[in-house]
Amino acid sequence: MSHPHVHPVSSRPTAADLALPPALPYPDGWAALAFAAELKPGTVITRQLAGEDVVLYRLRDGRLRAVRPYCPHLGAHLGLATVEGGELVCPFHRFAFDADGRCVRTGYDTPPPRAALSRLPVREVNEAVFVWRHHDGREPDWEIPAWHLLDDRPLRHTSFEMPGYAQDVMENSFDLGHFITLHGWPQGELAAPVEFDGPRFHISMRVREKFPLVGMREVEVGVDGYGLAALHTDVHTRSLGLQICSLVMATQVAPARMQLRQASRFALAEPAGLPPLVARAVSRTVARLLAGPMFKRTIEFTSDDFPIWSTKKYLSPPRLAAGDGPIGAMRHWARQFYPPDHQEHLPAPASLTNRHGQEAAGGVGSHP
Ligand code: FES
Ligand SMILES: [Fe+2]
Repeated sequence: MSHPHVHPVSSRPTAADLALPPALPYPDGWAALAFAAELKPGTVITRQLAGEDVVLYRLRDGRLRAVRPYCPHLGAHLGLATVEGGELVCPFHRFAFDADGRCVRTGYDTPPPRAALSRLPVREVNEAVFVWRHHDGREPDWEIPAWHLLDDRPLRHTSFEMPGYAQDVMENSFDLGHFITLHGWPQGELAAPVEFDGPRFHISMRVREKFPLVGMREVEVGVDGYGLAALHTDVHTRSLGLQICSLVMATQVAPARMQLRQASRFALAEPAGLPPLVARAVSRTVARLLAGPMFKRTIEFTSDDFPIWSTKKYLSPPRLAAGDGPIGAMRHWARQFYPPDHQEHLPAPASLTNRHGQEAAGGVGSHP
């Protein structure tokens, strides 16, 4: 991706990135740190979450673990450790830790000290790896559900790191105006009021999009958001039998610095008038041929936002206008993911027309 601020996922922010004043605290909840495929059995990787390193590793039997990075013996970084069978072994004095994190052996075959790794809640869902952190240290009180996957082909995925805020990635789905002005949709509107339900929201949009060769088509877009961490987007063009399912995950790795992970699958309806087995084979073959270009298209769509996200300032309060979409309602909902002393300047609740965020139900760009 050739934006000046967007890089492949790297391990450290630069000094210049850290000099940016953080406008938002780290969000609470789950955050994606990897794709499951990056963690084959025996793999140890270090990722960042909220300014701290997290070590992820997979035991030989497939179990996944997330731990704080420092060995309880003398503090070696466990990103250097190795998996040996069902244990993580620190390279410094070869102390070994079992699947529960308990120290079970030293490198000198002396009785191990009473020490344990500091484990973090970790989940493997939608072929991604999520780690939980909360400013008050609480255990997980919500989950990211498994979404339907359109088929059994390997998930295509990619990751980026850039300056910016995870909240902006979530807010993007509510920003109806920019779908037209930045992404080039000819028309788009909410199909129903936005639903907010605890850590989840649901948005349905009706969009008209121009396709090569076949022209303008009606597209149904459904977005489910979980926390300030994950979006599942279903884009269904019924008249073409085309369905694209994307996961977009944003993780605040350092102040004003985020990683973005995106994965997609897509499917084509089976053509009518053919014997079922042939129809299935045709649809799967065409889907396989188109998978690369379709994935590229979903990435290009998100990457329209990259130069904006990686250079924008988080404004609170923003100066909203009719046609913006329910951004005020979104920000109100987002408060639950920040420490209570985090004072955000939000529109007074009365100006959020209702808890379903109907303030912009008319949409924008609708030309009858
Ligand atoms: S620091 Fe890890 S074994 Fe000594
Ligand atoms: Fe966008």
